[in-house]
Amino acid sequence: MLCAGLPSWDEGAGLDFSRAARPGLIRGVILETWASLEREPGRASILLRSSLRRHSRSLGSKGRKLASRILYGMIRHGAVLEFLLGSDEKSVEPGLRRMLALLVLARCISPGSAAAQLPGQDFSPLWRAPDELARRAARIQPVHAMAVGGSLPSWVARQWLGVLGGEAPRFLAALVSRPRVAIRVNRNFGDRDCLARRLSSEGLGTRPSNLSPDCLLVDGHPDLHLLSSFREGFFEIQDEGSQMVAQLWERGPGSRVLDFCAGAGGKSLAMAASGARVWALDVRPAALRTLTRRAHRARLSIRTDILSPGGLVPVPPDWADTVLVDAPCSGSGVLRRHPEYRFALGREAVHSMQRRQREILRRALEVLRPGGHLVYATCSLLRQENQGQVEWLLAEYPDLSRCGALGNPGDDGLLWPHRTGTDGFFAVILRRRG
Ligand SMILES: C[S@@+](CC[C@H](N)C(=O)[O-])C[C@H]1O[C@@H](n2cnc3c(N)ncnc32)[C@H](O)[C@@H]1O
Repeated sequence: MLCAGLPSWDEGAGLDFSRAARPGLIRGVILETWASLEREPGRASILLRSSLRRHSRSLGSKGRKLASRILYGMIRHGAVLEFLLGSDEKSVEPGLRRMLALLVLARCISPGSAAAQLPGQDFSPLWRAPDELARRAARIQPVHAMAVGGSLPSWVARQWLGVLGGEAPRFLAALVSRPRVAIRVNRNFGDRDCLARRLSSEGLGTRPSNLSPDCLLVDGHPDLHLLSSFREGFFEIQDEGSQMVAQLWERGPGSRVLDFCAGAGGKSLAMAASGARVWALDVRPAALRTLTRRAHRARLSIRTDILSPGGLVPVPPDWADTVLVDAPCSGSGVLRRHPEYRFALGREAVHSMQRRQREILRRALEVLRPGGHLVYATCSLLRQENQGQVEWLLAEYPDLSRCGALGNPGDDGLLWPHRTGTDGFFAVILRRRG
């Protein structure tokens, strides 16, 4: 289990930046960003993005990529690195210690060269990581091994180990793997085969997904934004799991879907492209502007309105045949894409998210017509944000009943990354009595 969270050679190769164009600058950006993350872990996502963007020009695209891979690696493998290094709470340079440890673990620099930069620290256990972890694994409890292997808080490790049992190592390996690139064909412009041919003419290999009818899986990790087919609106970049959630709306002539937490519109666009009349709401005006831009590129029409947190919902009562609440959540299902979401996995943070999700659900239900469907979705794999919320809904709203769920019937509405290769998602459909 401990070894399941180790980086693959693929990931480790090429992290050494000593021969990059501006090694001093890369190192400075990594250490400065790390210091700000330690001061404000709750803002990890924003800090990472803004720091990399601020230095984007001086770093150049290669330097930026390298700095971000190292920073994300320092977070993703944080507990493994600390476990092998041994605790040193008094370390005056915790960022440097963590960065050097990652580079040794990835076999980019030797323990000796790391120790030359941070005298007094023994980096050699990291060099022997697989053997060292296997030797130590026998001495620790499975929950501890899960927490270290996945760099997870122990309460999260306990919950997932309880659900997954013997599958846990495969899950951990998926959690630290690089996600495959998935795209969704815009049916306004043709079908999936037609898009595959167009992409092939642009030099890109793809294969159809078995999970989602509009999805193609792309070979490698190319920058899709540069393709003319992307700029012309032939496809959107969207994880297979997200595409599957966007298929759960109730179909019928003129079906009206209210996307209550639409964000930048990943699911709104997918639903509109498959025939729904979509009204998109969100509390973030900038996200809705992005949605509108994307809808324009895809030649789709989607009405948007900004929700003010305490104000009225700007939609007539009973308007919606389906209300999709793709709720803000801990993001625990997308840790492979956003390792920094680990910082938001404290018990109290998840409780507060749970309260926010309930407030949103209360407001969203105001505009669901009798007989209509509520789709409740998250990109979390935590019970508190998923099955726990459905139980609360069923107890609080006796006119709701469960009528469908995402994924395989035995999986209780969950998509687990190691089973499906998708991001982790949860979605359940509840019908309001007519
Ligand atoms: C998981 S994201 C939505 C992703 C989007 N549905 C997609 O497929 O791209 C959750 C969204 O909920 C929004 N949100 C946060 N608080 C909200 C609230 N009180 N009411 C409605 N939306 C809210 C956030 O701004 C964020 O865009």
